[in-house]
This record gives sequence, structure tokens and C-alpha cells, in this order.
Amino acid sequence: MILEIINKKRLGEELSYEELDTIFNGYLNGDVPDYQMSSLLMAICINGMTDKEIFDLTKIFIDSGDVLDFSDVPGVKVDKHSTGGIGDKTTLVIAPIVASLGIPVIKMSGRGLGYTGGTIDKLESIPGYRVDLTDEEISKQVKDINLVITGQTSSLVPMDKVIYALRDVTATVSSIPLIASSIMSKKIASGADKILIDIKVGNGALLQTREDAEKLSELMIKIGKEYQREIRTIISDMDTPLGKCVGNSLEVLEAIDVLKGVEKNNNFVKLCYELATEMVSMGLSISHEEAYQKVVESVDSGLAYQKFLELVKRQNGDVNGIKVSDKTYNLCAQSSGTIKKINALEVGKLSLLLGAGKENIDDIIDYTVGVKLNKLVGEFVEKGEVLATLYVNKDILNVSVDRIFTID
Ligand code: URA
Repeated sequence: MILEIINKKRLGEELSYEELDTIFNGYLNGDVPDYQMSSLLMAICINGMTDKEIFDLTKIFIDSGDVLDFSDVPGVKVDKHSTGGIGDKTTLVIAPIVASLGIPVIKMSGRGLGYTGGTIDKLESIPGYRVDLTDEEISKQVKDINLVITGQTSSLVPMDKVIYALRDVTATVSSIPLIASSIMSKKIASGADKILIDIKVGNGALLQTREDAEKLSELMIKIGKEYQREIRTIISDMDTPLGKCVGNSLEVLEAIDVLKGVEKNNNFVKLCYELATEMVSMGLSISHEEAYQKVVESVDSGLAYQKFLELVKRQNGDVNGIKVSDKTYNLCAQSSGTIKKINALEVGKLSLLLGAGKENIDDIIDYTVGVKLNKLVGEFVEKGEVLATLYVNKDILNVSVDRIFTID
């Protein structure tokens, strides 16, 4: 039976609900081995899936765990998801902004994957911050302070956990149908009413072309309709890292600067305002113009930053305890000129090399290390000027400045 299912997909035929259920649940239960599931995933990657198959697979994913119900929390609950990027700490900024405007936000975030960082790892760089809240704690906290950012509970789409781990090591991560089912199942099971998805495109993202991002967007909106959820998407650039910092503590400190209004003008700040505006527009059913005004007011009045501090305190964190390594290493310009490009993927790789992420499952993350860009795209630099500072805890060999910065 399993062989027939794999063979059918290899030939590009449509699998029935029963066939998908048999093989995916068989894998979750341990009856289908890794090699057969890997083979099916690769066939899906190559031949794609029909809309019906994608809807069926999303349902199978959702049904593998609990569906959270926050209907007793008053207000329209708006969630947000990013397909993953380098320096993407937007959740740390936008969730407090949105919550400060009276919209309940329950954000269940993930850990880093490959070169991309995860919000949960970033939050764990705040000493004491709890990322393992129970369903009851989540429910109580959102009623009390309108905001929760925690890890995904083990009962939330367990199918995604096992399939994602296998995709990660079988070069099947970038399949659009698999991304759509993975993300949408988790978002629907998390109990939000409306969901904003930030689809990243570029060399530091899962998707490399705008065309693919548009396909994913269309699919997610269709899946949302099946579950009566309003889905909006934003397609954003991931050829360039977001903001100045990549690395856990550094990114939290950068997010704090944006919340305090200290940092006002770069691609990260711009994206935060865009995403927050969209979420507020969804949550309060108001125009973008009105929503944008509210977002600006939330930051300018200090309310957003206060909400962030309230969140950290409530989840046991000590914001004053965030540490970055005091050992630094500068990358300097080898010629004068204007910075044309900063390669997101190369910055992600460097940050991983410094220890800010995991290369192997057993690695321990060093929260204090990372990359801080001193110059951004469009700026003029003189030969010898510091382009980036690396916060390090180990000896660094052969960092190629040219691979990261294109100066012309
Ligand atoms: N993020 C997810 O949660 N799942 C994917 O498949 C890709 C990005």
C-alpha cells in the first residue's frame, strides 16, 4: 500500500485523503520508515500537489494535535507568521505594538532553522524568560495583559514537528504545498481569528522568486477560506538582512531600540511598521491610514515599549540581564565606494558560524554572539572603515568581507 502511494505521487497523480492519511499518520505512529516518507516528500517536492491534496494534508496536520480555543478571550485575535529570514525580529516589535492598541495577540513562535533565526531563541537570550507556558497560562495572560509570546506546545500539530525535521535533512523544505500545509495547520490550530503571513523572498529565504511567493500567498489565502479565517499576506525582501543585527541578544536589543523610537529608519523598522499596520487594520477593521497612525502613536507615546516590558516581566524575564559578548572583531572595507549589497545568506552563515544558531541538533546556542552591521545598503564608505562588528566567543578564521558586502 505505502509503495503504491509513493509510486502514484512519483507519476504525478492525485492522492486521496485516505492515502495521505495512511502514509502521514503511519509516519507519525512510527509504522512508515524515514526512507519511505522521504521518498514521498521528494515526489511531492518535484510533482507538487493539487489544491484538494493540500487542503486534505492541512486537515491531517491539524487533526494530529489539539486545536486551541481562545473564544473566551474578548476581541479579534490576530496572529502573524514569517516564513523565516536573517535578522527577522519583527515579532518582538509588532506584537507589543498591536497588543498596546487593545488587540489580543497570542503568538506561538518557533526556533531557528538552518541559517534563519527563531523568535523563541531570541527571547531566551533574556535571562529567565519562559517560553513554555501552558494553555491555561496563555489564556490567563492574554486576558490580563493582551499579549503572549511563547513556544509551540507539544500538542500543537505534532505531525509538523516530525515532517519538518525530515524535510530539513532531505532538501524538501522549499516545497510550496508543504510550506503552506505546515504554516497554515499551525496557525489554524493556534486559535487566531485573523492571520498575517510575511512571505520572504531572496537568497536568505526559503523561496527565491516572487512568482513562488505569490503562489504560496494564493494557496494560504485559499486554505484560510476553508477554515473561515481571514488571511492577509505581505511579500518582503530577504536578499538583505533585516536591520543591523543578526544574533539573539543583539536582535532583542535592536528590537528594544525600535520600540523606544531610537531606531527609526531602516528596512527593519519599515517592515515592522508595515506589518503592525496590517495587523491593526485587521484587528480593529480600520483603514491602513488609521491603523498606521495608531502604530506611530503607540511607539511615540512609549506604550508599545511599556507593553514589551510588561510581557517580559510577566514571563519571568530580566530585560536588564541581556548580555552581548565583550570580545569583538571588526570587518573593514577593502575599498571606498557605495554599498550596493549586503548578502543576507552570507550574514546568516557567519552568524551561525559564530554560534548564534545550531548547525547540529545537539549544539548549544551562544546568545551573546552575532553580527552588527555598522553600514547599510546605499551608504558610502571609505577604505578601512568598519563595515560590521562581530561579537565573538571563539577564534574566527577567514571571514570574507567581499562575500558579504558588495561595494562599488
Ligand atoms: N515555516 C514553517 O513553519 N513551515 C515551513 O514549512 C516553512 C517555514
